[in-house]
Amino acid sequence: MRISIFGLGYVGAVSAACLAERGHAVTGVDPNTEKVQLINSGRSPVVEAELAELTRAAVSAQRLRATTDPLEAVLESEVTFVCVPTPSQTNGNLDFRYIERVCAEIGAALRQKRDFHVVVVRSTILPGTLKTLAIPALERASGRRAGEDFGVCHNPEFLRESTAVADFRNPPKTVIGTTDPRSGDIVQSLYEGIAGPVIRCPIEVAEMVKYADNSWHATKVTFANEVGKICKSLGVDSHAVMDIFCKDAKLNLSSYYLTPGFAFGGSCLPKDLRAITYHARSHDVSTPLLNSLMFSNREQVEQGIAMVMAARRRKVGLLGFSFKAGTDDLRESPLVEVIERLIGKGFDLRLYDRNVNIAKLTGANREYIMKSIPHIERLMVTSVEEVLDHADVIVIGNRGEEFTALAERLRPDQLVIDFVRIRQIEERHANYTGICW
Ligand SMILES: NC(=O)c1ccc[n+]([C@@H]2O[C@H](COP(=O)([O-])OP(=O)(O)OC[C@H]3O[C@@H](n4cnc5c(N)ncnc54)[C@H](O)[C@@H]3O)[C@@H](O)[C@H]2O)c1
Repeated sequence: MRISIFGLGYVGAVSAACLAERGHAVTGVDPNTEKVQLINSGRSPVVEAELAELTRAAVSAQRLRATTDPLEAVLESEVTFVCVPTPSQTNGNLDFRYIERVCAEIGAALRQKRDFHVVVVRSTILPGTLKTLAIPALERASGRRAGEDFGVCHNPEFLRESTAVADFRNPPKTVIGTTDPRSGDIVQSLYEGIAGPVIRCPIEVAEMVKYADNSWHATKVTFANEVGKICKSLGVDSHAVMDIFCKDAKLNLSSYYLTPGFAFGGSCLPKDLRAITYHARSHDVSTPLLNSLMFSNREQVEQGIAMVMAARRRKVGLLGFSFKAGTDDLRESPLVEVIERLIGKGFDLRLYDRNVNIAKLTGANREYIMKSIPHIERLMVTSVEEVLDHADVIVIGNRGEEFTALAERLRPDQLVIDFVRIRQIEERHANYTGICW
């Protein structure tokens, strides 16, 4: 395929040489004449392992060249990659200047082009940027319609500087957000045979993935450093601790605990976080990340309460209020906090939780229920039906298995506020809202 690549920095230069290596005919575009000359003389415009050899080989095989002329590059290609910078403004927001300019240039070239063309943005952009900024800019400049006359994709780049070529050849994943299937197919074909999963998704999902990834990477570095500082204050070898930590691929380095939903709770996480942050504080060890967790968790509880209050209906039912399905443990259940706050605000509540009911009946957890939360015990009913008969607002608090089949039994006017995302209800009940989706 004939490909033009706008922006010959780290991402663009690596993409250009690697796509040329895969047999495509690549034209790089950059206003920086030095970078253009370097490529045309077979040299890499950035320092990156393997890139000098790849660039030299691609240029001498006449599969890679560079120009400062955007028009020529678009007219002579079928796909255009955008790898221009998206730096920070002083307020932290993205500086969209380069994206705007490049869209105007590519759009002006598309005005002169009859064949279908795909514009693939690789630059890191905030969700919504393509639909609200890039696509309108391309349509204005070209006088043509995205999704019909030309296609637009977001194909975020996951390379790490210093191992960028190896990462291009062996990416953790290839993500393609599309406006139309035809463009998605064209971009996917460019990566045929490449390692890792290829994931097609809505364009905003693709835009957000990179931010989730990089926020997570930053969280991991900061977390390890804070654990390290606490370990040092205790005379414990932090690397030995984190080596063992990383061996746990079931709970630690896994998808477990990574599903957006309600606040954490239970008898361990809050207690242990309090203890370790207390230790850090009392030894003058600064751990802002760990300190922020309880605060953020409380905000999630506030969010749940605010959603119930915003519904402005007094009769509320809560399905599932132990901190997770399959346990009757109510200690530090964030849902108990929600219930207590709603009682305080005068809501008319009915509560159901199968495991808590069993515990109450068999006496297992009866003492805690009767002594610590008698005000809650009085609102408990023994069936889902009783909650559905009573409530105008239904809050789903945990993944109790009997809640999945609720969709057919709900009245259309009943609002469901879901803290755990039960897909069957989300898909079938129109009056539905999730806590963070
Ligand atoms: N560097 C990385 O490791 C990395 C990894 C993943 C994603 N990203 C993202 O990719 C994007 C590019 O990053 P980078 O590090 O390659 O940037 P860079 O600053 O190294 O290179 C950008 C290039 O774009 C050129 N440019 C600016 N306006 C142009 C225009 N109108 N037409 C053609 N070229 C133009 C610049 O002259 C420069 O050579 C950013 O959004 C960045 O966040 C970077």
